[in-house]
Amino acid sequence: MKSFNDYLEIVNQHIAAIRYPDQPSQLYEPIAYTMSLGGKRIRPVLTLMACDALGAPLEAAIAPALGIELFHNFTLLHDDVMDHADLRRGQPTVHRRWNESVAILSGDAMLTLATRHIAQAPAACVQQAMTLFNQTAMEIYEGQQWDMDFEVRNDVQVTEYMEMIRLKTSVLLGCACRMGAIVAQAEDKQSQALYDMGVNMGLAFQLQDDMLDVWGDTATFGKETGGDIMNNKKTFLLINALNTATGDDALELRHWLNDPYAPRHEKVAGVTALYERLGLRALSDEAIARHNQRALDALHEAHLRPEATEAFATLITSLTGRKA
Ligand code: IPE
Ligand code: IPE
Ligand code: MG
Ligand code: MG
Ligand code: MG
Repeated sequence: MKSFNDYLEIVNQHIAAIRYPDQPSQLYEPIAYTMSLGGKRIRPVLTLMACDALGAPLEAAIAPALGIELFHNFTLLHDDVMDHADLRRGQPTVHRRWNESVAILSGDAMLTLATRHIAQAPAACVQQAMTLFNQTAMEIYEGQQWDMDFEVRNDVQVTEYMEMIRLKTSVLLGCACRMGAIVAQAEDKQSQALYDMGVNMGLAFQLQDDMLDVWGDTATFGKETGGDIMNNKKTFLLINALNTATGDDALELRHWLNDPYAPRHEKVAGVTALYERLGLRALSDEAIARHNQRALDALHEAHLRPEATEAFATLITSLTGRKA
């Protein structure tokens, strides 16, 4: 097995080698811009790692890995429109730098480029790869719609939230792992175990993302903090605040949720202080630890060689406490 950085290097070299047509520039420049800004590249690295862990040559996994990263980046373009987000990877989001129409259409093009890459999976497994990819994409759209629906509801429960983040975020990490297993032509049990590992990593990953949206440092996180609070996103934190706040805390929370004109700084500071008073940071950390443990359990079910198990375990552990 290689190190995370070695896989990352392979991914980045191949992303840098993708060429986009010059015209229409408003279609292709935003794609090149987005793909050049980096990001952690966790999903394509997972695909390469899974393929390598199963003893298959990496080369066959590269196109599907790139397809998954292109798809992820497409979801970010549309997500930033939906979430009114101005900053991504430390730079203006596409809809802010250009406009919303550009973000929609460049996103559409990225989805097609993604599909084209997945379709370059080896002939023996291309059908399985496409089926997994399309299934995952539909689930992500469902998750994103639940996420939007929940903004205007105040009775969302933790189980609904967990299902929403399973769909919008976690299945793509599961898909990334399973894609590597498909290319390596692994048996079903092994590829299912790696999928379960990816999904649980994804649940922990989104819980952590929600915490970083509150307590992260914009310079490191690359996104503007407080966005979830401003959008009344039903995160694990807000749902638990709604469930446990009493007295003046409960009144204050209602006020922040119901005042569409609340100044950003005041609302973000007020809700953050409330989360802290209610001990929700620790509660969220516990939920993250639980899902990381489930990811490790699934990893052991995959019965990989020790070196490969170790590589995934290190990655799972290193994502806990991530700042970006
Ligand atoms: C952002 O994903 C969207 C979420 C699922 C939270 P990442 O945190 O993987 O974003 P990049 O690709 O590293 O920028
Ligand atoms: C990400 O959820 C889910 C998708 C992009 C599909 P968020 O809305 O929390 O992601 P960020 O925080 O904007 O990256
Ligand atoms: Mg967002
Ligand atoms: Mg979102
Ligand atoms: Mg977020």
